[in-house]
Amino acid sequence: MMSRREAITIMAAMSISPASSHAGIVTRDMAWWQSAIGYQIYPASFADSNDDGIGDIPGIIGKLDYLAELGIGFIWLSPVYASPMVDNGYDISDYRAINPIFGTMADMDRLIAEARARKIGIVMDLVVNHTSDQHPWFRAARSDRHSPYRDYYIWRDQPPAKGTPADIEASFGGSAWSLDPQSGEYYFHLFAPQQPDLNWANPALRAEVHAMMNWWLDKGVAGFRMDVIDLIGKQPEAGIVADGPELHHYLREMHEATLTGRDAVTVGEAWSATPTNAPLYSAPERQEVSMVFQFGHVTQFWDEKLGKWKPKSIDWPRLKATFAAWQQALHGKGWNSLFWGNHDLPRAVSRYGDEGEYRVTSAKALATILHLMEGTPYIYQGEEIGMTNAGFTSIEQYRDVETINFHRIQLAQGVAEADFLAGARANSRDNARTPMQWSAAPHAGFTRGQPWIAVNENFLRLNVELDRADTDGVFQHYRRLIALRRENALIRHGDFRLLLADHPCLIIFERRLGAECLLVVVNMSRQETAIPTMGVPSVQGRDLLTGKQVSIKAGAKLKPYAAFALRC
Ligand code: GLC
Ligand code: CA
Repeated sequence: MMSRREAITIMAAMSISPASSHAGIVTRDMAWWQSAIGYQIYPASFADSNDDGIGDIPGIIGKLDYLAELGIGFIWLSPVYASPMVDNGYDISDYRAINPIFGTMADMDRLIAEARARKIGIVMDLVVNHTSDQHPWFRAARSDRHSPYRDYYIWRDQPPAKGTPADIEASFGGSAWSLDPQSGEYYFHLFAPQQPDLNWANPALRAEVHAMMNWWLDKGVAGFRMDVIDLIGKQPEAGIVADGPELHHYLREMHEATLTGRDAVTVGEAWSATPTNAPLYSAPERQEVSMVFQFGHVTQFWDEKLGKWKPKSIDWPRLKATFAAWQQALHGKGWNSLFWGNHDLPRAVSRYGDEGEYRVTSAKALATILHLMEGTPYIYQGEEIGMTNAGFTSIEQYRDVETINFHRIQLAQGVAEADFLAGARANSRDNARTPMQWSAAPHAGFTRGQPWIAVNENFLRLNVELDRADTDGVFQHYRRLIALRRENALIRHGDFRLLLADHPCLIIFERRLGAECLLVVVNMSRQETAIPTMGVPSVQGRDLLTGKQVSIKAGAKLKPYAAFALRC
């Protein structure tokens, strides 16, 4: 990874300044991560090097050339730390050790070095809202009420009375307070009982986290993705969970203790963030994080009561309005992250596109929309070949703690098995966790052993080997989008204007920077759709992605899932 300092040195040698004007355009790149693309790896499901059925670090190293070919700038690596794996590694028992199922610390060091040699940074998952209950801190805390580690966690002597502020429900179901039989008190956990929440009000705990972050940064990692970071300022007794009063103070303190003078990227996962409060995290002068993952485009289509288990269908005018609001809120004020999917969400093409007849075209259309907005785009493993939801039909196929818990809870509440399974088929986190489909070999070339979770049955016709060889495939389209962003300050920094906001399936927007203009036109529908007579400029030219000549004008017909980007 080229550091900011190296970049400036090179530019100085070439006598270009970072703010120099080039062809009349001010190049406004201020940080490497504003032109880089992130790629998320869910290690257990990426590539298995030793045939135990679980993806691992040597497996990732073996695929670095593939990722370099795609053109990514950094890998967000989901947790590989020591963990009992109750929540697939989001329950950490030692922040400075590698889980043996994923490899060794020597493998990790090799991954950092091999990635760097290909100009790819490694971004670690920082899971510090909670630890595993097997972490030495929690073991010490529960074994002795007077241990200095007791106050690393959050305790009360009684379960909260029903309906009082502290009576909070955990994300994976049940009360957020569990009895610790060893010490006779209740501890707080926003996720599984095996994931006790850390007490961020304790400065000693915060100092431990900072030291651990510095330890990883000194090893050469490129930054952190911060798991549910908007929860660390919580005040459970007052019923405050997300976006607590101390949150931004903790983030600023963390930045100062770890990131100052380094050239790292940080992305905070913040389910509570809105276009209104997102600038508080990412405004550069506030020195908190580079950007946040916010989820407005996801949660707006959840049911009021059953949430993700009863998803609503996608309403494009609403979705477009959400994207436009983010684009406007952060333009010139902070920085956006752009994503359709991750390891907690369904596959992009299944949720927002069409996983049948139009799988390839709709996957490409979705990529075009996302990658031509302002922000740092993230690709979730397999998205670059248009992988689909798992298609599981029985609860036995699921591995995810959340899915399994909610199956029990909702059935007990009277939800029918078939209804629950339909919801899980649409929105279980396991949809994105089936193994990466590398080839048509047994188990999709992911492993020669027994995979820990079933491979999607469609791997014979949907895999890297097939898709990558197809110039019109999904992979080559992502490659072109990534290259286009790298070459165009307009894509990185242009402003954003949504056209035809109310159109039910046409997604049309303009990007402008100085005298330059880009028009993006996408038909998110299975129907051929005509461009309306008003509201879209007439533009003729070459589609920047395919090189084909196109003419955008009133009455022009767009094929199902057609997607174009042209200069205007
Ligand atoms: C985040 C992770 C998710 C995990 C949870 C608890 O939302 O992305 O996978 O279960 O935090 O750590
Ligand atoms: Ca393995």
